[in-house]
Amino acid sequence: MILYVEPSRGLRGRISVPGDKSISHRAAILAALGQGTTRIDGFLESSDCLATLRCLSLLGVPIERLSPGSYQIMGRGQEGFREPKNVLDCGNSGTTMRLLAGVLAVQPCFSVLTGDASLRTRPMARVIEPLRSMGAQIYGRVDHTRAPLAIVGSRNLQGQTHELPIASAQVKSAIMLAGLSANGKTRVKEPARSRNHTEVMLQYLGVPVDIDGLSVTVTGGTIPQGGHIIVPGDISSAAYLMVAGSILPNSDFTVENVGINPTRTGVITVLQAMGADLSVEPKAGGGEPRGNIRVRSSELEGIEIGGDIIPTLIDELPVLAVAAAFAKGTTRIRDAAELRVKECDRITIMSQELARLGVAIEEQADGWVVRGGQRILGGKTCGHGDHRVVMALAVLGLGGEGPLCIQGADAVGVSFPGFCSTFGQLGAQLEERAKDAQLM
Ligand code: S3P
Repeated sequence: MILYVEPSRGLRGRISVPGDKSISHRAAILAALGQGTTRIDGFLESSDCLATLRCLSLLGVPIERLSPGSYQIMGRGQEGFREPKNVLDCGNSGTTMRLLAGVLAVQPCFSVLTGDASLRTRPMARVIEPLRSMGAQIYGRVDHTRAPLAIVGSRNLQGQTHELPIASAQVKSAIMLAGLSANGKTRVKEPARSRNHTEVMLQYLGVPVDIDGLSVTVTGGTIPQGGHIIVPGDISSAAYLMVAGSILPNSDFTVENVGINPTRTGVITVLQAMGADLSVEPKAGGGEPRGNIRVRSSELEGIEIGGDIIPTLIDELPVLAVAAAFAKGTTRIRDAAELRVKECDRITIMSQELARLGVAIEEQADGWVVRGGQRILGGKTCGHGDHRVVMALAVLGLGGEGPLCIQGADAVGVSFPGFCSTFGQLGAQLEERAKDAQLM
């Protein structure tokens, strides 16, 4: 499929975005580990989160779909998972693989986690090593650094203190999930604060989590209790709308019910610092903070983005590079080398594709330097199978001077099903077309 994008003269209306990807994965996994039944509403039915449900189902977890986005999951609690009869396919989803590695390390069964070509190249030593140091038997390709991973689970892991060299919510969560069934206390200390959805949800489901600055501690033998989880809209998906509304003239719209957990709102902080006209109206209730975000057109200016804010906006950096292309002056993005090990090398791929479309962008080891205000022409570009690259390029196309065709449109289904129709409701013209259709 290709994504065909027409330049837009402004977005107006009121919409919502699909459920948060990180929170949906955690809701399904914690419900499966819990005692009793959990109902989840607002679950993101994207290919990544559906991969998590499929894996849990193969592990013997009863899952019922009540209606679109609403699920009932029967927790396996003390009983534990069933040995899967086949390999567990995580598709493109790093969160599925890393979090399940932690869960399966302490389930007394043999399991294999695999994924698509992109996921099989992504670094897994960052979860394998800490889990092995707790006594887990977990093996991988390329000297235990790459998937497929083979795991011989055991209830005999020893709780430990782990100091992570990089801030990663996936690694922190994998260790905490293993820690729930390990002996004693398991502590994870991060160099900077990453998203804390696992901590928030564990506490919401009755599991004590001790949080002290950048350290979190869980105690073995604690089991989440079933409950009702309502997943807010994904701020990472709303980010494409925030940037588009900021750069396009005559825009004024509201995105309703977006998750505004402070460990995820770096994109709002940075866009506001660039001069974006964003106002957030928080709403009460639920385990995770949520609110409506009003977006109006603005004149953006280049800034420096780096340091401890990076983990709070890591997935939004491709679209922030696009915002920088429309800003006055220079934007420097640094301390973001992690982008090289996402679904693709987002630093190289974004520089290549943006440069090809007229953006003055320089690749750095840990980010980019973007000089804004160049003419953005339409044409053809490629998303390299990475959902966030495809959607960031689509926003560039909305602000460009001619139609843009992006190869690999299917990837948007990894995190933002209905991407085109959501923008369509605000008046934009984005269309998915068969690959061999007439391009323009
Ligand atoms: C995620 C954590 C981040 C993020 C990813 C989702 C999560 O990855 O980039 O899209 O749900 O925990 P890292 O943990 O590798 O930083």
